Amino acid sequence: MTTVRNLRIAGPTPLPPEVLRALQRPMVPHRGAWFRGLVKALLGRLRLLHRTDGEVFVLPGSGSAGWEIAIVNLLRPGDRVLMLVNGDFGERWSRVSERFGLDLAVREVPYGSAITADRVARWLDEVSGVRAVFVVYNETSTGVTNALAEIAAAVRASGALLAVDGVSAIAGLPFEMDAWGIDLVFSGSQKAWMCPPGLVIVGVGPRAWDAIDAAGFPRAFWDLREYRAAARTGDLPSTAPISLLYALEAAVDLIEAEGLENVWERHRQLAAWFRAAVQELGFRCFAEAGHESATVTALVPPFGVAADRLVTRLEERHGIAINGGQGRLKGKIVRVGHMGWVHRGDLEEVVAAFATEIGQEM
Ligand SMILES: Cc1ncc(COP(=O)(O)O)c(C=O)c1O
Repeated sequence: MTTVRNLRIAGPTPLPPEVLRALQRPMVPHRGAWFRGLVKALLGRLRLLHRTDGEVFVLPGSGSAGWEIAIVNLLRPGDRVLMLVNGDFGERWSRVSERFGLDLAVREVPYGSAITADRVARWLDEVSGVRAVFVVYNETSTGVTNALAEIAAAVRASGALLAVDGVSAIAGLPFEMDAWGIDLVFSGSQKAWMCPPGLVIVGVGPRAWDAIDAAGFPRAFWDLREYRAAARTGDLPSTAPISLLYALEAAVDLIEAEGLENVWERHRQLAAWFRAAVQELGFRCFAEAGHESATVTALVPPFGVAADRLVTRLEERHGIAINGGQGRLKGKIVRVGHMGWVHRGDLEEVVAAFATEIGQEM
């Protein structure tokens, strides 16, 4: 049995009791009228939570599937993509894109910095023939939230498509799919959605459908046209992940009861409180000021405190699981997740444990 009592990694996140109970419900015929009704209603509610009149689909898969879903549904081999990178997840998306034979123009800002609209506008001027722009809204590896609304406006002005990795953002950070003009976004059930891993939730804007019809990659399981056709009857093309859909329905109940904007505000306030508290202890925020994520905080520990050792000690001595750095940032930072079902007390425990550990020789 795990000794972790306080799961403060950047996903999977803790499950509220309502979600845990939903997971215990019995199986039903996934093509029966009752379950189809549940799926149809759930997809409608997810559209509202994405702030879109477009379509939202739920697919079995994890966040990484979203990278491939965007590629095979929007593009043709050899299409030019402006890939915006400021962390490990952007880097991974660019590696996946390379494997598909896209003509990638990668533009990177230093890890910890944010991607802003003026930079994107400049790059779009520099690189001709960009068919699509790929960006990670919330870089989980650095704790940076990119200026998505403004980036989207710059991309719109260029006429390119915009696909967004919202894996650690959607349901935790402000997101306005239609008002911002996002063509495709995906997120993972195990993050701010407060569900177990296993679902990738994909929003598709109206402009994307022409691209989806014209896309030139072979696609089968990830073909969004099949999800669209199936969704009309409350179906999925393959056997529905029934338990996960029960869980998501319960999580959506909770988000609606709290109010989506209140959920965003809770994340914002908790993150601000946490940053202030850990900075008092001598930690430095890794993210550029003004772009710190409200779902995950990346921290450089005080001088003389080894990041990875701190991660181990928190788990072994305090039952608190946090993340270290990943990719280039391994051993340099720690990351604390605060998305989904999270309250002030959960973060107070982390602050207290940090205080204890840095008071000791690490
Ligand atoms: C921003 C971002 N994109 C993609 C992924 C990959 O998601 P998964 O591990 O669910 O495949 C993650 C996972 O943490 C993420 O944070």
